[in-house]
Amino acid sequence: MSKFATLNFSMQNQTELLDENQQGEATMVEQLSDRLTGKKVYLESYGCQMNFSDSEIVASIMANAGFETTRNANDADVILLNTCAIRDNAEQRIRNRLKQFNAEKVQNPNKVIGILGCMAERLKSQLLEEEKLVDIVAGPDAYRDLPNLVLELESGQKAVNVLLSRDETYAEISPIRLDSNGVSAFISITRGCDNMCSFCVVPFTRGRERSRGPKSIVAEALDLFEKGYREVTLLGQNVDSYRWNISKKGEIVDSMDETVNFAQLLEKVALVNPDLRIRFSTSHPKDMGNDVLEIMSRYENICDYIHLPVQSGNSDVLHKMNRGYTRDWYLERINAIRKYIPECGISTDIITGFCGESEEQHQDTLSLMEAVKYDYAYMFFYSERPKTLAERKYTDDVSLEDKKRRLAEVIALQKVHSMESNKKAVGKTYRVLAEGYSKRSSEQLCGRNSQNVMCVFDKKDYKKGDYVNVFITDCTSGTLIGETVV
Ligand code: SAH
Ligand code: SF4
Ligand code: F3S
Repeated sequence: MSKFATLNFSMQNQTELLDENQQGEATMVEQLSDRLTGKKVYLESYGCQMNFSDSEIVASIMANAGFETTRNANDADVILLNTCAIRDNAEQRIRNRLKQFNAEKVQNPNKVIGILGCMAERLKSQLLEEEKLVDIVAGPDAYRDLPNLVLELESGQKAVNVLLSRDETYAEISPIRLDSNGVSAFISITRGCDNMCSFCVVPFTRGRERSRGPKSIVAEALDLFEKGYREVTLLGQNVDSYRWNISKKGEIVDSMDETVNFAQLLEKVALVNPDLRIRFSTSHPKDMGNDVLEIMSRYENICDYIHLPVQSGNSDVLHKMNRGYTRDWYLERINAIRKYIPECGISTDIITGFCGESEEQHQDTLSLMEAVKYDYAYMFFYSERPKTLAERKYTDDVSLEDKKRRLAEVIALQKVHSMESNKKAVGKTYRVLAEGYSKRSSEQLCGRNSQNVMCVFDKKDYKKGDYVNVFITDCTSGTLIGETVV
């Protein structure tokens, strides 16, 4: 499910960034710029929204160091792949892409290939020293060092930085929006994860959880609004554990500073402007409190949509997964959502065939899906990841055939539920934020309703960035089709 993005920004942006944000680092930037100016960088991203958001930070760092950009890998002096390690097949895809770039390098031996992100962090120098597939390795907390790594490589040193940090949030770096529709943008609010779900590699690749200061988050939202953006998505592996100036035990760290939890942060961002829509991802069932639901119900511009990954519908499997909740707890959270926000769209993540999962336990996942009737789901079969708790403690004993068959059952059921959910929308009118032309026709616009379902409608006099009332007349399992009403 990996996506693809390329670097795209103008020289004007680079100058603005230097003026506004980098004064303190001006001398260093000038020195770097002398040697790097005119070099071209190409960036490709895989994995989750956080990785795509990180690529926008990398673009900004490279621009400040003097790099020009290209959307064409053939033109590039430096190729950077921002990678994902969540499942084995994600890594296989990236390996193939690296091999392809290496084959092309025969014609142009000076081309530099760098690997960033979670796979870089997981494999450290292996891809450089043993497999010789890359020249540069930079983990998720090492992006400020990227220009230096390019220079170090030129002077014959080993260009690897996979140090994880306890406090890096890239808070003051102005991301350069890549492949942006100019309407919606991501804002990272936390980095890392402390949860240690037993199947998950993220705590190893992204390090300890840390929150970014609320002032820089609100400032970024305001800046986006002033530039014409109308929707921001606040990103973190577990947004509910956002905390500013509050220790893990709940104590105030600095008595002179404000304390902010996730519900309070949501409110601050909602107050930026009533015409700025707020989304967030990912919520964690063990941490999502009623305070968040209450704030969501109070502010019209916080979207009625929650992504609440369940992973499994069986409490014993959830315990082995170290998720920190039971089936009943999860279903109670769903009830709370429906109580506070009756029209809320709900989506989830599901893993089939986790270590020891029996046929009955798999049936519990299907029955939970029946109970909740998700509007949308991301579904995977279990892929064992090195170093995780599950790899060390449990046997990956469900056959690939069973994992895949269970996944197919989950996908088939979800398709029915998505269709049911969309059929219920027919006959209703939604406020939709137009994001751009529909895939099929430049006479039609598309955009999401508050519940995050894509709607398609005739353009008339509307344009990207407008809020439009759309009466839904028809649907598929993925899209609502409608007409604009005043
Ligand atoms: N922080 C989010 C999820 C991040 S990873 C959360 O806690 O829900 C996105 C999804 O990938 C997970 O929700 C899970 O469903 C899936 N995933 C993670 N590790 C996996 C693995 N080893 N095998 C299969 N799917 C996995
Ligand atoms: Fe992984 Fe769990 Fe953290 Fe999500 S909450 S990133 S699944 S360890
Ligand atoms: Fe992949 Fe890393 Fe995101 S492993 S899912 S890119 S946090």
